[in-house]
Amino acid sequence: MKLEDIQGIGVIGSGIMGIGVAQGFAEAGIPVLLVDRSQEILEAGMKQIEGNLGLFQEFGLLNEDPDVIKSRITPSVTDDFGEIADRCSFVVEAIPEILELKREWFGKLDDIDKEVIFASNTSSFTVSAISDGIQKADRIVGLHYFNPAHIIPAVEIHRGKQTSEETVQLTKELMLKIGKKPVLVRKEVPGFIINRITGAMEREIDYLLDEGVVTPEDLDTAIRASYGFRLANLGPMEAEDMIGLDTSERVSANIFKVLSNRTEPSPSITEKVKKGELGIKSGKGWYDYSGQTSEEIASRINTRLLKQLAHFRSLDL
Ligand SMILES: NC(=O)c1ccc[n+]([C@@H]2O[C@H](COP(=O)([O-])OP(=O)(O)OC[C@H]3O[C@@H](n4cnc5c(N)ncnc54)[C@H](O)[C@@H]3O)[C@@H](O)[C@H]2O)c1
Repeated sequence: MKLEDIQGIGVIGSGIMGIGVAQGFAEAGIPVLLVDRSQEILEAGMKQIEGNLGLFQEFGLLNEDPDVIKSRITPSVTDDFGEIADRCSFVVEAIPEILELKREWFGKLDDIDKEVIFASNTSSFTVSAISDGIQKADRIVGLHYFNPAHIIPAVEIHRGKQTSEETVQLTKELMLKIGKKPVLVRKEVPGFIINRITGAMEREIDYLLDEGVVTPEDLDTAIRASYGFRLANLGPMEAEDMIGLDTSERVSANIFKVLSNRTEPSPSITEKVKKGELGIKSGKGWYDYSGQTSEEIASRINTRLLKQLAHFRSLDL
């Protein structure tokens, strides 16, 4: 298969991630078949896409009318992979993180003759686990988007033992074509690249909070205005070069031994979960969101991220 053969994209699951995945392809001019289990879920997803496109337009991030982009997305309630494959040569799965559910969809690859690449947006399963026992495993690839998928530019492309080089390269070319920033994960490791790094950082953040070293508010300010500020435009390898590798080595030698090496989640998070303090979705987490609608909160977060996206695009990194 060649890049120009990919004229239609299937997205299975129109939840938090699927709608962002679908929007990205539609923005790039490619027709999308958006699949879910019910018409109501699809309608809610399409409404959210409409809202997201409206915000993109407000921030000058679209080259076309939002309605034209939205019209490229066709919602469909189906579990017939043959029907999807008839219209799409590249399919992205974004259903819940339940291995059996995912394997049910991926197993359908063996029932069709058409050449189709089937990508999983799994956060935590390896491609080998998803494709175990599937004959056409060479066409299965991991395509890890970041939430919100319509805004965050990077995607991690990860492969299983049987994923073909052609599948990986075509996935990369397709991501480049739609303006994403694909990163290849060269070995099959749990958590891929970014979830391992954020996991390591979260462990230390939770430890500092548990030890009373910093408040949640100050921690957010510290990260946003220092490490986060720099990282948005300067990668960690560039930053190490700027700092000097000799200095970096000395600091690592002193600091690494005092970092948390906890293997369980933080007790304060576990306590909050027990109390039902789950964050924005329950009205309280580290912060109190009472009196604010979910739309107000989403709009505040999206505004910051969209300004950042406009800036990121202007840098052309
Ligand atoms: N939420 C995140 O921040 C995030 C980030 C990166 C990756 N992921 C991964 O993306 C995937 C989807 O996560 P999400 O947060 O969008 O989940 P979600 O629950 O918001 O959406 C899943 C959608 O799949 C649909 N669905 C369920 N079973 C289905 C089936 N058998 N066939 C078709 N549709 C079905 C649901 O109706 C729902 O609309 C997961 O693998 C998750 O680990 C999530």
